[in-house]
Amino acid sequence: MKITILGTGYVGLTTGVALAYLGHDVCCLDTDERVIAQLQQGEPPLYEPHLREMLELSRSRLRFTTSYAEAVPEAEVVFVAVGTPPRPDGSPDLQFVRAAADTLGRNLGKGYTVVVNKSTVPIGSGKWARHVIEAAYFEVHGRDADGLVGVGSNPEFLRESTAVHDTLYPDRIVIGAADERVLERLKELYRPLIEQKFPAPEFLPRPEGLEQVTLIATDPASSELIKYAANAFLALKISYINEIGLLASKVGGNIQTVARGIGMDQRIGPRFLQPGLGWGGSCFGKDTSALLTTADEHGVSMPIVHATREMNGRMRVHVIEKLRGVYDSLERKRISLLGLVFKPDTDDLRDAPSLEIIRRLNDHGAKVTVHDPRGLERFRSGPLAASVTIAESAEALFEGADAVVLITEWREYLALDWAGLRAKMRGAVVVDGRNALKREEMEAAGYRYLRIP
Ligand SMILES: NC(=O)c1ccc[n+]([C@@H]2O[C@H](COP(=O)([O-])OP(=O)(O)OC[C@H]3O[C@@H](n4cnc5c(N)ncnc54)[C@H](O)[C@@H]3O)[C@@H](O)[C@H]2O)c1
Repeated sequence: MKITILGTGYVGLTTGVALAYLGHDVCCLDTDERVIAQLQQGEPPLYEPHLREMLELSRSRLRFTTSYAEAVPEAEVVFVAVGTPPRPDGSPDLQFVRAAADTLGRNLGKGYTVVVNKSTVPIGSGKWARHVIEAAYFEVHGRDADGLVGVGSNPEFLRESTAVHDTLYPDRIVIGAADERVLERLKELYRPLIEQKFPAPEFLPRPEGLEQVTLIATDPASSELIKYAANAFLALKISYINEIGLLASKVGGNIQTVARGIGMDQRIGPRFLQPGLGWGGSCFGKDTSALLTTADEHGVSMPIVHATREMNGRMRVHVIEKLRGVYDSLERKRISLLGLVFKPDTDDLRDAPSLEIIRRLNDHGAKVTVHDPRGLERFRSGPLAASVTIAESAEALFEGADAVVLITEWREYLALDWAGLRAKMRGAVVVDGRNALKREEMEAAGYRYLRIP
């Protein structure tokens, strides 16, 4: 099938590469010329494990362009995967979706095209997008566009850091389609994934026992709501364990054991019950906030989603409180942050807890040093880079530090010679924001070892 993907970010590029791997002809379009030039050279513009190998494997069925006129007229299915970042008031900014829908409409060919929204958009956006596409088409071609486009919703559930894996072996595929024709075309497109008959790439074997992926076909509003509800629930689990963790630290309980004890209940499950600095990244913050905006518009209050966000914000402040429990004042204290990105194996800095922690440490007059194996390139072009020292290596970050805070549990950080590095520090304080280091080893090495919460 001929497919076009609008937006080659984490979602669009991974989707495009995976669909090409499955045998479709895929054209990936982005308005960012630098990104497209990189992709034409076979260079992924973002870091995601196995994306480079997949690009290589699927090369013969992949094209990259900035031209809608080249990408759209022939396409049987067009995916919209552009960004929907939050506005300052927390509502989603739909300017990129609008621009994509408008330019798409102007460039549609005469054949029937299915336009699928993969961007996370407010409930009801499908209808709105259809209107924008058709209005643009009418403007260019006159009013004969009836039945020209079918619009569907196909939310994306991939996780950054395992995006290729999640795309090839999804837990489920959700399609919101207002009519049968849209659904049939998307079923056809996803058949290789649903049936799981494709040869698995050597570096990403098929999970044992996966023979079929369930497709949930529903109406567009339910499909769009599934995405928001899933993210809010995952965020809730993390905030919940942190709330219990704050209490555990007061009553002398061990939150790791408590989390294990809760998670072994099959009704709850162990995942997303890791206490620590809380969630970050491009989705949970923005999507919980967008959900609240939609609820507000419909006169519905969502106290659980509110509390989930409030608790996550508290964890970022809690790090500063921990440090102030050791050093009354952080003025001129050298605080080193191991890790900037919101989780290992990504280079994404969006809504990373590190950014707010840096701002707060700056406000307290601390001297901040940072390091990250993958996030430094993006960090250097951001507004906070000038306010900190960037260490050339993780080891260098210990030099003269009063405290080291583990922000991201990168494997290479956990494997550092912590005992040896202790001597380089001025203080010997380690705050483990991810509960990822071994308490006995840290204490045996002479550290004052503190955990979050
Ligand atoms: N990143 C994730 O983990 C994830 C997971 C599930 C869903 N989502 C959702 O998917 C969507 C995309 O997220 P992302 O993280 O891939 O975003 P991203 O910021 O990484 O990529 C978006 C891309 O769209 C391009 N773009 C902007 N306007 C365009 C236009 N008019 N035409 C063509 N390209 C255009 C940008 O240049 C950019 O490269 C968002 O709605 C997000 O909420 C993201």
